[in-house]
Amino acid sequence: MFAVHLVSSFFSKLQEDPTKKVDRFLYTMHLHDDQLSDISACFQAEMKKGLSAESNAAAAVKMLPTHVHSTPDGSEKGQFLVLDLGGSKFKVLQVKVREGTGIGRGGVDIEEKIYPIPEELLTGSGKELFDHVSESLKDFLHDKNISVENKLPLAFTFSFPCEQSTLNQGLLLHWSKNFRARGVQGKDVVQALRGAVDRTGGMDVEVLALVNDTVATMMTCGFDDRYCEVGLIVGSGTSACYMEELRHIDLVEGDEGRMCVNTEWGAFGDDGALNDYITEFDREVDAASNNPGKQILEKMVSGMYLGELVRLVVLKMAKLGLLFEGSVSDALRTKGKITTAHVAAMEEYKNGLKNTRNILVDLDLSPTPDDCIAVQHVSTTVSFRSSNLVAAGLAAILTRIRQNRHLRTLRITVGVDGTVYKTHPRYANRLHKVVQRLVPDCHVRFVLSDGGSSKGAALVTAVAERLASQRQQVDETLSPLRLSREKLLLVKKRMRGALEAGLKSKGPFAVKMLPSYVYQTPDGTEHGKYLALGLGRTNFRALLVDLNKGLQQNSRLNHKIYPIPVEITQGSGEELFDHIAQCVGDFLDYMGMKGARLPAGFTFSFPCKQTGIDTGTLVSWTKGFKATDCEGHDVVSMLREAIKRRNDFDLDIVSVVNDAVGTMMSCAYEDPQCEIGLIVGTGTNVCYMEELKNIEKVEQEKGKEEREGEEEKQDDGAERQKKEEDAGIPKMCINTEWGGLGDDGSLDDIITHYDMEVDQNSLNPGKQRFEKLISGMYLGEVVRQVLLDLTSRGLLFRGQVTETLKTPGIFQTKYLSQIESDRLALLQVRSVLQQLGLDSTCDDSIIVKEVCGAVSHRAAQLCGAGLAAVVDKIRENRGLDHLDIPVGVAGSLYKLHPHFSGFLQETVKMLALQCNVTFLPSEGGSGTGAALTAAVARKTLEM
Ligand code: GLC
Ligand code: GLC
Repeated sequence: MFAVHLVSSFFSKLQEDPTKKVDRFLYTMHLHDDQLSDISACFQAEMKKGLSAESNAAAAVKMLPTHVHSTPDGSEKGQFLVLDLGGSKFKVLQVKVREGTGIGRGGVDIEEKIYPIPEELLTGSGKELFDHVSESLKDFLHDKNISVENKLPLAFTFSFPCEQSTLNQGLLLHWSKNFRARGVQGKDVVQALRGAVDRTGGMDVEVLALVNDTVATMMTCGFDDRYCEVGLIVGSGTSACYMEELRHIDLVEGDEGRMCVNTEWGAFGDDGALNDYITEFDREVDAASNNPGKQILEKMVSGMYLGELVRLVVLKMAKLGLLFEGSVSDALRTKGKITTAHVAAMEEYKNGLKNTRNILVDLDLSPTPDDCIAVQHVSTTVSFRSSNLVAAGLAAILTRIRQNRHLRTLRITVGVDGTVYKTHPRYANRLHKVVQRLVPDCHVRFVLSDGGSSKGAALVTAVAERLASQRQQVDETLSPLRLSREKLLLVKKRMRGALEAGLKSKGPFAVKMLPSYVYQTPDGTEHGKYLALGLGRTNFRALLVDLNKGLQQNSRLNHKIYPIPVEITQGSGEELFDHIAQCVGDFLDYMGMKGARLPAGFTFSFPCKQTGIDTGTLVSWTKGFKATDCEGHDVVSMLREAIKRRNDFDLDIVSVVNDAVGTMMSCAYEDPQCEIGLIVGTGTNVCYMEELKNIEKVEQEKGKEEREGEEEKQDDGAERQKKEEDAGIPKMCINTEWGGLGDDGSLDDIITHYDMEVDQNSLNPGKQRFEKLISGMYLGEVVRQVLLDLTSRGLLFRGQVTETLKTPGIFQTKYLSQIESDRLALLQVRSVLQQLGLDSTCDDSIIVKEVCGAVSHRAAQLCGAGLAAVVDKIRENRGLDHLDIPVGVAGSLYKLHPHFSGFLQETVKMLALQCNVTFLPSEGGSGTGAALTAAVARKTLEM
């Protein structure tokens, strides 16, 4: 651009280039990139100050929450009236966001009418101003034949700073630009509008949203471009808004998701932040304005002031003899004689100089060609400074967004509107270039808002309605997963009934209540070395336990885990046990102990019917297992046979225990009061010490044995009985297999159709209904079913049911835990979803997290209801009014999920008022429990 000037000055008599003269005169208006970076950094600090509750009152930049939570997703619909007040013109509009047309410009129809506002109304009484607004609205309805029979939804674009506590309310903080109507500042402008509508009469209007023009601009562009999360106005006034993380907005409750913040950056500098850059002309403009001392940045940047700045510079230069040979006209002395439109005309590409000359002549001046060049350059300098300052502000906002989202580079779109940006021939280009230089790590697209602030206001309303209806539908969807205290008490009661029934001798029972033949918990005197073997879901564990050392030490050392391939879990039983035997062999090799015949405890985490501590007939597989020819067989014999088939080592299998029992045993080793073991992992289960006299099935068998038994044996029995009495009441640990609750239909009123899907797709349909509501193997699937449903109803992932979402098992427990641990404004949720190949918006992430929360909360509550039944039963067994009882607990869900344990505890407390339950996470896991069981069993034998 300087080229034109240089060339023309070269031909103009080789005297000094007139632009240099201007540059020297206006050197403080030239802002270099490092200065702009300083300003940008300073503005970033101001934004922080405005967002924080402590410093907001003192902050110049107000950072006003707008209660706009989301940009459009293209599915918005509806028909709205819009009032647009505070831009260059007052307009009334009807905006139709058409249903079904989806994303695209074609989706919105606008009819509008401009209503001039008489000068005197701007500075008259607020009542008059709003009456004018409301009467214009009435005229518009009449003009466009809009029926007034029904309530008319209306959005109000009001381009002034408002403190909003909801979307459709807002106190005017102060007027800006050329408005100054009395009695409105500090008042709710929606209320003022309603009052005026009532006075006008004949209309029934519902104001749904109060929207700043920056916000409306962002929304308009956001309708076509989902990356648009910044709105910028450079018109009569200037401001910008952007999507901020809710957790950073102190003034609004909630910390999940985002909200648009209207920065009101026009006030930047009101506290002196821009003093280094302010010129005497800025001071003059400010002093002569409606609001001296206020909106300092706005007065350096926006359309209301640019022309005036140019006039003051030209006047001063003329007075100093630097222009027009020192002559000054009255017109040049008159405020408002040079407008922003003039500034734009002076900088036009081809006609700029000619226009400048005409403008000056109209001001009764006689400019030389050099004068014209100089004045044009003044205009360029003033408007260039404006775009530079806007660029610095935008750079601050973009950097903040990039940092908020922990991104190295940011792709973003800025929606822009305003007369200066739109009509000045060079403004937009310069702005874009400077922004690119200041924030090279942001890929910014600028989009001129089409339909501007009015269409946007309608969209704000439409988005709010979409969110509200979406919210309602999501709430409705999740409501069957939310269980009342009454429901949970029912579950407790049913569990209690099932526990009692299972102890009886005749089955079948939903809750199997399997005797474990573990009569005692450890007393701490156990000693010796044991091999602990464990078959869980996806792996087999071998562990050498030295009971002479602490349990924790044991679990770290001498430990090996062998993954079990899925083919083997679902192949033949012989293959499965051969595989296990091979793992044991490998472990003994590894420990160098193949020659020793070690006593071994076997943790087998499936339901087994036991007749002694060292036999167990598998009742049925649960969780992911399906190996053939195992159900109905003694798993200890199967293991022994597999070892025999190998013939390279020998093992003395002393005990077989369920993992719940193992857990209880290992916790009881630390705390002898512990008489309950709880597992919440892949599966869920509970065991507890039951009084022998209550275990009908064992008591009957015992009676049978005793009748058939010989004299010596009876002696033995009598001996043992005596010992047990010494130790207190005779008890036996019962493996409840509570996962089967509901298999008889008793939970049908709680089971949702999502649960039914999960059940139907499982390896054991109809079985383990309670487990399927609680444990890690199924929670992710329940979540997936809910997400599938929400998506197919268009409430999630833009309605796109992807292959990923259709893939069973993608939501592993660890992902649930990660999603629910998110404290980083959903960043973690999004990254988990991204890992899973699900492209989510911020709103999607909120919903996904909510679904996970509902499902895991329900799981913890149901588990708590079950546990409440167990502890109350123990309390009643002991005839106590109050019971303090520790529960040994293990399992990945319990251990890793951020909220499960808390909700579990809370629920037990709520449902078992007479019990005080504490939880002891098992240290050594169920493996050491198997060793302890073996040790206890051996001791009993030795006795
Ligand atoms: C003024 C107003 C602000 C508006 C801007 C652009 O700065 O205070 O609310 O966004 O002008 O119209
Ligand atoms: C399943 C099994 C049960 C086990 C539980 C936890 O419910 O049936 O035996 O204790 O999972 O692993």
